[in-house]
This record gives sequence, structure tokens and C-alpha cells, in this order.
Amino acid sequence: MTKEAVTVHPVNQLIRKRWSARSFSEKQISQKDLNTLFEAAGWAASAGNEQPWEYIYAKKDTPGFDLLVSCLLPGNQPWAKHASILVVSIARQYFAGNGKSNMAAFHDTGMANAHLFLQATEMGLIAHAMGGFDRDQLTNALQIKVNEAIACVIALGYLGDPEQLEEPFKSRELAPRVRKPITEFIKQI
Ligand SMILES: Cc1cc2nc3c(=O)[nH]c(=O)nc-3n(C[C@H](O)[C@H](O)[C@H](O)COP(=O)(O)O)c2cc1C
Repeated sequence: MTKEAVTVHPVNQLIRKRWSARSFSEKQISQKDLNTLFEAAGWAASAGNEQPWEYIYAKKDTPGFDLLVSCLLPGNQPWAKHASILVVSIARQYFAGNGKSNMAAFHDTGMANAHLFLQATEMGLIAHAMGGFDRDQLTNALQIKVNEAIACVIALGYLGDPEQLEEPFKSRELAPRVRKPITEFIKQI
């Protein structure tokens, strides 16, 4: 199953193919492939080449994975627990060199995540971001430092059978992907 974007204007194939699936197969991601995903993330552009992103991950069937699942909200737990790997994306919000506030930290961490997602798409993997987690619980569990903040949790895995999903996730899996037309968010001055 694919849910390629039906675009008005032509775009890169990886952008068309990337989507946030919730059904994961039993196949696990190798350490080699995981390293490639993080390498792709690390080559994102960032303000002053600060590279403010950090990642903490856990593989399925480990205590770390169960800990991360326990911090997800009920709307994510039922499907995300079947992912191969859960990744916590963290933004360091100050410049390491001078301690000053880095206003681009979340932006640049999102850039790194986008790289990771497109690399995953090219490798036939699903990467699904989640903002639905208990922020206090996860921050405490991972002992996230002051001036660092969790951007999202990412579920990684190979695509599975949508029939295995319970509702309402199954219907969402099969629904078409939609976007605003560019005229709604573009203004020429
Ligand atoms: C920062 C962020 C947080 C998100 N949080 C959730 C979430 O908690 N649960 C979920 O099922 N999807 C979540 N999503 C996925 C979005 O719902 C999805 O990207 C959007 O509906 C567009 O669909 P597409 O990625 O398939 O194009 C999140 C995406 C992002 C980027």
C-alpha cells in the first residue's frame, strides 16, 4: 500500500511518497540502516552549524522501548508499540559556544527530522512523528536537561498490513492524504 501525494505542481518523488503510516510489520530495522537515518539527520542545515538536535532511541522488546511507549498518549500507544524503533527528538535551545539562546533550535531540529524522514522513505521505511506524549513524564524519564526540549517522538519501522489496526486507526490509514493549495499559504509582495 502507498499513499503517494497527488500534487498540483510536480515535486520530488521522496516528498510524494513519505507518509505517516501507523501499521508496522514485524520486520526490524538493522543497526546499519538506523545509523544511516541518523547520518541523514545530521547533515541538515542549521544556524551557525550548531546542530542543536539530539536523539535518544530504543529498540522493540527492550525496557527502554517499553518506557517510551508508556510515555505516549492513548491515541498513539496502540499502534506505536508495534514500531521497530522509537526515537525521541530533542532540541538543545542554546549555543554550546556561548550559552546564548538559539531561536532556531526547534526549526533546525525539524530540518534534521525531515532529512531522517526522507532518508527513511528512500529506504522503504516508515517514520511517523508524534507530539502526543506526556511531556513531563518523558522529560523526567529521560532526564532531559534544562534548556533542552523534546520536539517529538518518532516511530520507525517497515510498513505493515492496515487490516491489523484497530479503529479509528485503520480508517485513518486508508483515508486519502490532503493538503491546502499553495495559494492558501503563499503571498507575493
Ligand atoms: C510534530 C508532529 C507531531 C505529530 N503528532 C502526531 C501524533 O501524536 N499522533 C499521530 O498519529 N500523528 C501525529 N503526527 C502526524 C501527522 O498527523 C501527519 O504528519 C499529518 O496528518 C500529515 O499526514 P502525512 O504525514 O501522512 O502526510 C505528527 C506530525 C508531526 C510533524
